[in-house]
Amino acid sequence: MKTSSTTPTRIFSGSRPTGPLHLGNYLGGIKGYLALQEKKEYDCIYAVVDLHGITSPYNPQNYPQQVQELVLEYLACGLDPEKAHLIIQSHIPEHIELAYLFSTIYPVSRLQQLPTYKDKKKNQPHYVNLGLLSYPVLMAADILIYKAQLVPVGKDQLPHLELTREIARKFNRLFGKTFPEPQAYLTPGAYVPSLTGQGKMSKTNSKSYISLMDNLETIKNKLAKVPTDTGKGKKIPSTGGVATLFTLVQLFQGEEKRKEYEKLYLSTGIKYQSLKKELALAIYQVLQPIQEKRNYYLRRPKLVRDILTAGEKYARTIARETLNEAKEKMGLL
Ligand code: TYM
Repeated sequence: MKTSSTTPTRIFSGSRPTGPLHLGNYLGGIKGYLALQEKKEYDCIYAVVDLHGITSPYNPQNYPQQVQELVLEYLACGLDPEKAHLIIQSHIPEHIELAYLFSTIYPVSRLQQLPTYKDKKKNQPHYVNLGLLSYPVLMAADILIYKAQLVPVGKDQLPHLELTREIARKFNRLFGKTFPEPQAYLTPGAYVPSLTGQGKMSKTNSKSYISLMDNLETIKNKLAKVPTDTGKGKKIPSTGGVATLFTLVQLFQGEEKRKEYEKLYLSTGIKYQSLKKELALAIYQVLQPIQEKRNYYLRRPKLVRDILTAGEKYARTIARETLNEAKEKMGLL
């Protein structure tokens, strides 16, 4: 475990256990977690945010398995228990208590205006619950309970991070300086578009993503369905299937390759069949070692339990300290 004599910069992030991680989660979220755990001056805490996951319809019978799967996938992607602390959010109840305290200083009307809330309301009209509305307040508590200064996330989470900064500022103004105003850490893959060519790659649309656990055949089949066009003489598109392919080429095969394809797009045209085949191989080359490492951890449940126990013990000490400080400042202790 990393230790330091000076106060380290704290890093926090998390993902919901709502299904297997996809390329968007990996490139926009996890790659950031991995980059930051390598820096000695950073103290990283990464969470499976299971309490956020239950704000959308879910199956309680499968849920423990989904939580476990995300832990395995984190480790498989390279989260290193020697360099970062791994936790399950609901095991540290201080997150919820701090979220309640924050909920008393944040206006309902502002939460109702958030695009993520409006989208969810549209997508799950029969499941519009209070937890969904206060989702970003719990997220602010996740981050601020560790006084995290840097949060590796994809672009879709930026409005939530802005709200976290607002809560920190307001708390500091009302009760005295307590919390930092955390910044986002964005990777080159901070926005991975959907395979459908519309919107972002997302767990809620199974046609939109390639999962980290997909085999080569599945990846090929999914890429085969990405819509394309001949493009001759047109501008390089910024949306649609071809834009998605170009983004994935850039992220998995590099900028040079993307430029080559862009030139072809504007001149003779692209042979999409071979582009998609090459791209599928490049993606699978990244995913295969992750899949093998997942199997390694799958066969070692005690090791995984020990990693979580150590991470949670470490995180809980910090969480208790911050919660007590907040309660004291609010006149509750
Ligand atoms: P979640 O579970 O939706 O996603 C996990 C991470 O994946 C990123 N991501 C993407 N990045 C690029 N392109 C995409 N298409 C894409 N889709 C998802 C997300 O930005 C995220 O980094 N609210 C959070 C979970 C959370 C959290 C937190 C995050 C709860 N508390 C505290 C940071 C700090 C969420 O739903 O992530």
